[in-house]
Amino acid sequence: MISEIAIGKTMATTATMMAAKEALKIHEIVLYPDPVLAKMCEPVTVFDAALRTLVEEMFESMYAAQGIGLAAPQIGLLHRLTVIDVSYKKNAKEKLVLINPEVVETRGKQVEEEGCLSLPEIREKVARAAWVKIRAQNEHGEWFEVEGEELLARAILHEIDHLNGVLFIDRISRLKRELALRKIRKMQKNGEW
Ligand code: NI
Repeated sequence: MISEIAIGKTMATTATMMAAKEALKIHEIVLYPDPVLAKMCEPVTVFDAALRTLVEEMFESMYAAQGIGLAAPQIGLLHRLTVIDVSYKKNAKEKLVLINPEVVETRGKQVEEEGCLSLPEIREKVARAAWVKIRAQNEHGEWFEVEGEELLARAILHEIDHLNGVLFIDRISRLKRELALRKIRKMQKNGEW
């Protein structure tokens, strides 16, 4: 009898969770040169259920766009909030929620190709630290530290840049940026942007 009640409750909970999951909004990604992408974001101060729903929506919106990182300004919100999953759904343990993140320490240098959901089709080599240690708050407001190297270091630094209104094309040479902007203008003209 007790186990039946327990099973019934589990099923009801699962159904509620599924309904909640279905209701998650997939946000449209803001494209360059929307001015929201160039603004400084404001610290997050309220850690409530609405924030946790927004975090889930950001993960789903990022996956829907086939990205490994998404920052709040990319969905039009000037909040110091970003989500990262360099495993792209393969390992739940690699899902990172970074709220009010701060760089603690960086080491070394890596130069690798980078892209951005707000700059589709544009890829350029960008110099970043090879290793980074940051501190941030999670969706419950708890501070934690995380270290990353290679792709994770790159993703973390790229996303923190977004919170300061900086895009990866701001970190490449003027000539390469001009070429990228020319490509974007051409795509805009052709209705592909
Ligand atoms: Ni980006």
